[in-house]
Amino acid sequence: RQRHDLDEILASFDLGPEKLADVARRLRAAIDQGLRMENRGQSSLKMLPTFVRSKPDGEEHGDFLALDLGGSNFRVMLVQVQRGRRRVNLHNQVYPLPQDVILGVGEHLFDHIAGCIADFLENTGMINHRLPLGFTFSFPCHHQGLDQGILLNWTKGFGAKDCEGKDIVTMLREAIERRNDYEVDVFAMVNDTVGTMMACSYDDPHCEIGLIIGTGTNACYMEELQNVECLPGDKGRMCMNTEWGAFGDDGCLNDIRTNFDKLVDAASFNPGLQCFEKMIGGLYLGELVRVVLLGLAQRGLIFRGRPSQRLFTKGIFPTHFVSQIESDSMALLQIRSILRGLGLDVTCDDSLLVRRVCAAVTTRAARLCGAGVAALVEQMRENRGLDHLQVTVGVDGSLYQLHPKFAQKVTEMTARLAPRCSVSFRLSEGGSGKGVAFITAAACRVREAGM
Ligand code: BG6
Ligand code: GLC
Repeated sequence: RQRHDLDEILASFDLGPEKLADVARRLRAAIDQGLRMENRGQSSLKMLPTFVRSKPDGEEHGDFLALDLGGSNFRVMLVQVQRGRRRVNLHNQVYPLPQDVILGVGEHLFDHIAGCIADFLENTGMINHRLPLGFTFSFPCHHQGLDQGILLNWTKGFGAKDCEGKDIVTMLREAIERRNDYEVDVFAMVNDTVGTMMACSYDDPHCEIGLIIGTGTNACYMEELQNVECLPGDKGRMCMNTEWGAFGDDGCLNDIRTNFDKLVDAASFNPGLQCFEKMIGGLYLGELVRVVLLGLAQRGLIFRGRPSQRLFTKGIFPTHFVSQIESDSMALLQIRSILRGLGLDVTCDDSLLVRRVCAAVTTRAARLCGAGVAALVEQMRENRGLDHLQVTVGVDGSLYQLHPKFAQKVTEMTARLAPRCSVSFRLSEGGSGKGVAFITAAACRVREAGM
């Protein structure tokens, strides 16, 4: 009976190739619906135009400030791009973002950011230069151009008040004006997926997809303009931010969600939202493992049926524990010591079982990502009427980088579900800063040319 319960719980995370192919089909349908004007709101994919239409052409040059907000770190960067040289120089400073700033009043968040920029400009001796600035802002925004974007809703635990529904570039400019001690020109605001794709495509012309597997998850890709019904024009392509983290918010993934997913969702800061992201993102996977372990302990299947008090605490099991536990070099004794740190009474079998639970949760996550990428590449292949598509995906994010097997599983599932596409994945580490600098450079050029 106990064995049966255990197998059942682990099996609920095991999505086979048929199911995943079906998930990819549902994602394609949601993409199509999100691109259409009619019934657009019925898709859980927002499909947001980014106003990025071309790849870097090597002509970009100059010094740019870049901000990166929304991943695990807030960073200010100085990016120096040299024309024709496939090289950029980066000065990079990480600034802490205290919880009361993330969850406080919107104006204070932007005052804080403007303060960090001032500090950075002082440190780099650039305070008296008026630099062009590109902002990587990793949240869903409705754009009507490159240098503005209305925040639709916060995700990933951010929640500063009075920002949703407002133009984020205006909020940033106003905060800088309030200080009145330096000047910058904000040229562009982009999603992290877009920055990542652009940075990667600087080196690889086949890169037409940007993928983030970090705190959250999301992807962007180059779509035919003629398919984007909310925009005029039918020539060329536009990079679309899918916001696939919200995939399933309409209930279309309910058949694959487990009761554990529902528990994590219910205790999150945004219940009912970001369904796909909550099965994949680093902000949630550790938490998912924690609630599964708790469930197993309460059924007497692990820890001798006695969970520690600490195991009841939300957030006590961060996703980097999961990455460590699944690493081949991690001996059982080390797993045991992580678990003992949580006050748990652990046997050798328990350590093995914890590793199985971690693998079940992360394998499902990686396969779902693979299904997502398969949907995008198939969309692009069919758009172009090709029998075969070769494409590169620029990827970034802590989970993708730190987990020992995640990357390989994403690649395998993509290949399996999209056999008519050759898909390469290329790490674009911290690339979104570089990417937004290229976009800013191109926007600068257009403005200088008076176009
Ligand atoms: C970073 C990018 O390297 O990866 C960010 O520069 C992005 O723009 C981030 O948001 C995603 O990863 P994480 O794990 O920090 O959320
Ligand atoms: C969340 C955000 C999205 C971002 C992703 C990865 O899903 O809504 O905009 O790209 O996280 O950081």
